[in-house]
Amino acid sequence: MPDIAFARPALPKSGALALLICEGEKSSGIWQQADEATNGAVARALGAAEFKGGKGKTCTILAPGAGLSRIVAIGLGKPAEINTRTLNEAGGHVASLLSREASAAVAVGALKPDQTAEVALGAVLRGYRFDRYRTKEKPEDKPKLAKLTLLADDTARAKSAWTPLQGVAKGVFIARDLVSEPPNVLNPAEMADRCRKLTELGLKVEVLGPKEMTRLGFGALLGVAQGSANEPRMVVMHWNGASGNGRKRGSKPVAFIGKGVTFDTGGISIKPAGGMEDMKWDMAGAGTVVGLMAALAGRKAKVDAVGLVGLVENMPSGTAQRPGDVVKSYSGQTIEVINTDAEGRLVLADVIWYCQQKFDPRFMVDLATLTGAIIVSLGHEHAGMFSNDDMLSQRLSAAGQEIGEKVWRMPLNDEYDKLIRSDIADMKNIGGRPAGSISAAQFIKRFVNGKPWAHLDIAGMAWSTKDSPCVPKGATAFGVRLLDRLVADHYEGG
Ligand code: BES
Ligand code: MN
Ligand code: ZN
Repeated sequence: MPDIAFARPALPKSGALALLICEGEKSSGIWQQADEATNGAVARALGAAEFKGGKGKTCTILAPGAGLSRIVAIGLGKPAEINTRTLNEAGGHVASLLSREASAAVAVGALKPDQTAEVALGAVLRGYRFDRYRTKEKPEDKPKLAKLTLLADDTARAKSAWTPLQGVAKGVFIARDLVSEPPNVLNPAEMADRCRKLTELGLKVEVLGPKEMTRLGFGALLGVAQGSANEPRMVVMHWNGASGNGRKRGSKPVAFIGKGVTFDTGGISIKPAGGMEDMKWDMAGAGTVVGLMAALAGRKAKVDAVGLVGLVENMPSGTAQRPGDVVKSYSGQTIEVINTDAEGRLVLADVIWYCQQKFDPRFMVDLATLTGAIIVSLGHEHAGMFSNDDMLSQRLSAAGQEIGEKVWRMPLNDEYDKLIRSDIADMKNIGGRPAGSISAAQFIKRFVNGKPWAHLDIAGMAWSTKDSPCVPKGATAFGVRLLDRLVADHYEGG
């Protein structure tokens, strides 16, 4: 990850230079100086490449002269259409195109200080790597970019806009680290320990083990956990950014809940072998909640928030739950477990009920890699969103558009609810193949007690098999920035 610095615009005498260019923009400032210092090499290269500043278009000029190793031009598109996502992605392109350079300067043209900071965020996010388990990597195979200097007229304001974003980047990295960890390392107890470490950021962290959860009556969550030698945990993280600083006390918190299945074999309804290793990231919803809480604390958000994660491992064994078992959830409702692979909803049921009983939240958003069916519906472009509240879902959609973590609203209604009727219990845990993601959401809705709520099915979004501008392939941390933005836009200072 490159170190970020801000400096007054000046043409660097060595190293690499990135030029951010809008569609239709005429050369001026650093761009013009670079062109003159290289005897017109920049203009010639951009002309030959037909580079016109279109959004996401890039052009690399190697050894252009003037002592520079490389100049890259990155298109921002039409000035009127620039949003946070555009800026982050431009930063991501900088980091990716200049990863072989040791240091680089970025000329941001007419961007404002807060926009400049968003470019820095994009570059940092793209620079993420998970290399903890590589012991033989050659130095020349590692990315070199150690320092990125953004050239800004008002360095002081750009720097102060960057400070909170650094906290957000840290939250994203925490989520990506958790999701990337192998399942033999990251079991429920280990994940809870990592949550405890967040007290360093000023979060209050409580951990509940099987004894406490048995006493409370978490029959749904414990049924999933009972097949594993690794004990379950529930972690509750508190960030008191509104009431903690002498501001109004006793305000209702906003609440985030994550599915944390540290490995999902399917249990007795076991999954096929091919691709089962992917199920290490079945705790991504929880990883996102942890990263989000770290981000809120890291940027000192003026909000009271709680983050709850249900952590279990879903294994087949002599003690595992069986298809046909009936469990009693913390809400008192009974569930016939038809398929032990539909475990995430069982975990969420108890954690969501606990969240409402304990915190009376303003709203709840849960995140879960819940169904393969959502990937069939929406692929890897949108998370599925299910909600009982139009305002909350509109705010989530807008935040997603702005920062590039998109959600698409799906329906809920009584007809779909009928799919989970059971012959012997209050409900069953699967509704059949048709509308698989919707019947899963209807199941969760039965544990929502009149609170504004949104469920994000992130099964298609948590992990990526290819690089994108701000997300190297692997764990994406989808949802950290979306929900951070939701909070920033609507729930701070009010
Ligand atoms: N964790 C899976 C969902 C999943 C599948 C996430 C593929 C990411 C990629 C979930 O626990 C699950 O197994 N769901 C079942 C539900 C079915 C049994 C009703 C599914 O989607 O097949
Ligand atoms: Mn499953
Ligand atoms: Zn699962």
